[in-house]
Amino acid sequence: EVYKDYFFDANGYDIQDGGYKELEEPKTPAVPLAVPELLKPDRETQTDIYYTVCAQTGETEILPGEKTKTWGYNRSILGQTVVFPVGKHIHVTLQNRLPEITTFHWHGLNVSGPYVDGGCHAPVYPGEDSEIDFTLNQPASTNWLHAHPCPATAEQVYKGLATMVVVTDQHEASLSLPRTYGVDDIPVILQDRTFHENNQLDYRTDYDPDGVLGVTPLVNGTVNGYFDVTAKKMRLRLLNGANRREWRLHFSDDLEFVQIAGDGSLLPKPVHFTKLMLTCAERAELVVDFSKYKPGDEVILYSDQTPIMTFRIKEFTNDQHVEVPDELLKIEVPAVDPETPVRKVVMSGMDESVMMDHKKFKMDRIDAEQEVGLVQYWDVSNTNGRKMGMVHPFHCHGMSFLVISRNGHDPYPNERGFKDTVGVNPSETVRILVRFDLAGLYMYHCHILEHEDGGMMAQIETFIPGKPRPHYELMTMDKL
Ligand code: C2O
Ligand code: CU
Ligand code: CU
Repeated sequence: EVYKDYFFDANGYDIQDGGYKELEEPKTPAVPLAVPELLKPDRETQTDIYYTVCAQTGETEILPGEKTKTWGYNRSILGQTVVFPVGKHIHVTLQNRLPEITTFHWHGLNVSGPYVDGGCHAPVYPGEDSEIDFTLNQPASTNWLHAHPCPATAEQVYKGLATMVVVTDQHEASLSLPRTYGVDDIPVILQDRTFHENNQLDYRTDYDPDGVLGVTPLVNGTVNGYFDVTAKKMRLRLLNGANRREWRLHFSDDLEFVQIAGDGSLLPKPVHFTKLMLTCAERAELVVDFSKYKPGDEVILYSDQTPIMTFRIKEFTNDQHVEVPDELLKIEVPAVDPETPVRKVVMSGMDESVMMDHKKFKMDRIDAEQEVGLVQYWDVSNTNGRKMGMVHPFHCHGMSFLVISRNGHDPYPNERGFKDTVGVNPSETVRILVRFDLAGLYMYHCHILEHEDGGMMAQIETFIPGKPRPHYELMTMDKL
């Protein structure tokens, strides 16, 4: 079966809001798509691996003419692609060379919060360094690193503080899938920006409490990029890194593609599509088969009607033996004790009135708790009306969940793997199955970044029964 629609409720597309800005087709010349280099470890032993990630200011040539002032990780914009093998003890030195406080949030990594996880309680002050270490025990997946200081997450991400983090494991490595980085396996980081005078960004001018939209589409920081295809089958690691925009993606010729992975793992089985919608912070790994094309052909990736990048078909010189397996991952769904109450999570409001669980976020208030290891349903609802609502992408730190149902119906076919972000339609309740493996403090929020900064966020403490609970040093506005 080939799915030909976006699944999501069209009434909830972000075009419903009065401040919506459509993407405009870039008029600047085509340029090669940036494919960030891989972050090299500083050193590595049999058991341990060491990295340095530096948040820095810079200037990037994005449009012809003046360079754009941007921020990035070890780079002037976005960052080098990070690859973390599971099982190794990973050490990261975090450096802040920005003029303001920042944090380094590992979105999708199952690491302990609130310090290693890098939410708002893990500030690195300008000019300072900090060290974290962790060992990953989670499935191979495409994740990301982004800034998460409160309440400036949206502005820092907009300036460029976001990069891809790939987790690798032995199971994924045993499958017949493309995985030569930069050749048949590339990041596709989707963002939108508006360029003002002298090609500069101006977050404050473009501010909208329902999310900042840009009119120019960028992929990996490139406007009107092209990628030279030399392998018949390409693996595209899509990441919606936009502050607010949903991407409704499709290729020229309605080219069919296969989704093999979502946010937190491979899918149990590949799913065939001609269209895919990604809400903010969601990831999807696709395998696109270009073998029916010949050198000189071009395949265009669109969001709605706007072309966002081009695949230029070259000689297929890359000799590849890829056959996407019919079974990708076995997922055991843990049983839920019928005595365990269902947690209700409520996302409400629009603009300045957004709230989580009927409250605005407060950094020094812990809103909920859950035992480590307990398997619990969470019913996450979006109270917006069906006529004038928005899809709120719900995200929780510190674990990956399974999507059980949408208003009592089956989840979408590409939601069968582990996820950490799920789009909740207006007037919908999405049931997810949540289990935390690590004690800590974790934020959960809408991933429209301005909704998050605006207070549609809360935090949950997880604990091991019978063990003393640590005292968490929490940030407050006056410590900023
Ligand atoms: Cu990607 Cu709390 O965020
Ligand atoms: Cu996160
Ligand atoms: Cu929202």
